[in-house]
Amino acid sequence: MMKDLVLKNRSYRRFYQEVAIELQTLRELVDLARLSASALNLQPLKYMLFCDPEKNALIFEHLAWAGYLKDWPGPGEGERPSAYIIILGDTDISRSFGCDHGIAAQSILLGATDKGLGGCMIASVQRQQLSKALGIASRYEIILVLALGKPKEKVVIETVGPTGDVKYWHDSEGVHHVPKRQLDDIIIA
Ligand SMILES: Cc1cc2nc3c(=O)[nH]c(=O)nc-3n(C[C@H](O)[C@H](O)[C@H](O)COP(=O)(O)O)c2cc1C
Repeated sequence: MMKDLVLKNRSYRRFYQEVAIELQTLRELVDLARLSASALNLQPLKYMLFCDPEKNALIFEHLAWAGYLKDWPGPGEGERPSAYIIILGDTDISRSFGCDHGIAAQSILLGATDKGLGGCMIASVQRQQLSKALGIASRYEIILVLALGKPKEKVVIETVGPTGDVKYWHDSEGVHHVPKRQLDDIIIA
């Protein structure tokens, strides 16, 4: 069960944009992050939730998609995320956020997968511009943006070959292939 969920929880970048996500769903996902581990239990992360098309369009402009796919500028209109969760670090609580945001993001994305949704962590964000565009107070640092929606693309896991190339690729049918290292190559003792 757990492995099925992890396998299904791929990074999705093309969505059925017309399938809306309710604010309540986003709140339930953030509740999973709230219940997750936090260094020193400081819980310095805060969240902004978006599921209206206008704000979504504004956020989209500030994100970079799939760096390895040089000929793909990101999802086109109609295949864009229907919601976003922005993970912020509250500098009034802590100046460093360790790996709290990775844990929070994974909890949220696993929860989304469990609900038949999917998404992608986006760290390539024009942080200053997005912060300004959304009027985010200076005490909050944008750490990660989670793009969410009903996945429209097929993602297949491949094995990293002898060349060690880890770059993902799209095939001619638009299937997204993601190479993963083999278990015996990552356990070193
Ligand atoms: C911290 C982090 C930041 C990421 N930032 C981006 C990003 O800015 N843009 C993007 O398209 N994908 C981003 N990704 C998604 C990765 O490209 C993706 O996890 C990787 O290709 C492996 O695919 P998988 O998640 O399906 O296993 C990010 C993932 C992580 C964990």
